[in-house]
Amino acid sequence: MAKEVRLIVLISGNGSNLQALLSACDTGQISANILGVLSNRSEAYGLRRAEKYNIPTIVFHRLTNRADYDEDLGNLVATFKPDWIILAGWMHILSMKFLEKFPNKVVNLHPALPGQFPGTKAIERAYTAYQQGQIEQTGIMVHLVPDEGVDDGPVLATQTVPILPDDSVASLAERMHQTEHALLVETIRKLVVGEIDVKALSN
Ligand code: GRF
Repeated sequence: MAKEVRLIVLISGNGSNLQALLSACDTGQISANILGVLSNRSEAYGLRRAEKYNIPTIVFHRLTNRADYDEDLGNLVATFKPDWIILAGWMHILSMKFLEKFPNKVVNLHPALPGQFPGTKAIERAYTAYQQGQIEQTGIMVHLVPDEGVDDGPVLATQTVPILPDDSVASLAERMHQTEHALLVETIRKLVVGEIDVKALSN
């Protein structure tokens, strides 16, 4: 029997990307099991989504300094022996105290193209840049998280997303979210079956 691929998903909010992963693992589109969903916010709706699939959820509030939190979080995540740790709307910049435990195993999703709009409110900032004539399109990226660089690291996948003249921030955000759900699922599917050579990317 093929080895079970073990995923852990870290979230902070709505969890629509988590939902895409839950569905894809449930239907077999991704040949992996989500062993746990971890949130740093107890009100994150994504926790309810995971419960519907009987997947263990953990709320891990930050009560200490960042280094201790990240170390403790890393120890907790390590107990699941994950093959991949997916940051799907995880709103906390992980330090090396966490990342050094999982080289080439942490994957982040960001609603912008590489090098553009790192950090929060990336969709809103892209919309404003479009209004000011600075960009004609935006996009989504999925990348490895090797270090503390914000929304930066070896790129696993990108998808451009057009911005339309009559877009509102809401309509652009809707198109962005649809695109990221599909791109995240397809990228994790490829990672799980070995279609992406992560070691070659990170050298
Ligand atoms: C997504 O846009 C993701 O790219 C960003 O945060 C958002 C999370 O959305 N990092 P959701 O919680 O998956 O619905």
